[in-house]
Amino acid sequence: MFRRRFLIIFATAFSSVVTLLLAIPCVRFLLAPLKRNNKLAEFHKVAPLTSLPIDKPTRLNVIADRQDSFTRYPKSVIGSVWLRRRIGTEGVDEIDAWQTICPHLGCGVERASEDGFTCRCHASDFDANGKCLRGPSPRDMDKLLVRLNRCR
Ligand code: FES
Repeated sequence: MFRRRFLIIFATAFSSVVTLLLAIPCVRFLLAPLKRNNKLAEFHKVAPLTSLPIDKPTRLNVIADRQDSFTRYPKSVIGSVWLRRRIGTEGVDEIDAWQTICPHLGCGVERASEDGFTCRCHASDFDANGKCLRGPSPRDMDKLLVRLNRCR
């Protein structure tokens, strides 16, 4: 009688421990997105303000540390942006920034002139403020948030 009871308790305890050990990786997998950094929400230093020409859109690469699963890529190109420096209403420099990815099917918005931007893939044209003028693009160019660091 004692041996049967001992085996039941031992089997129950052993299976509980095994279940808990198997649950740890499952819980870690489910909680992993909460621990991951959202790199897209970060601001990245792109260029000194004075290096940008006034009223001429300039395409610049965004360089930052990148990580794919277990591999780190220090100081690699993570994307690019169109930047336009302009003088604001109070004589202060302002920057407009747009994605270089076309809102239609994701080609690069390659060319910029004083008149605006063009995507050569399917001939979408955007004005100088990124507004869609013609072509299959379903919307204007995607504008990006800009934070100016005027102290440095
Ligand atoms: S991807 Fe740019 S117009 Fe189609």
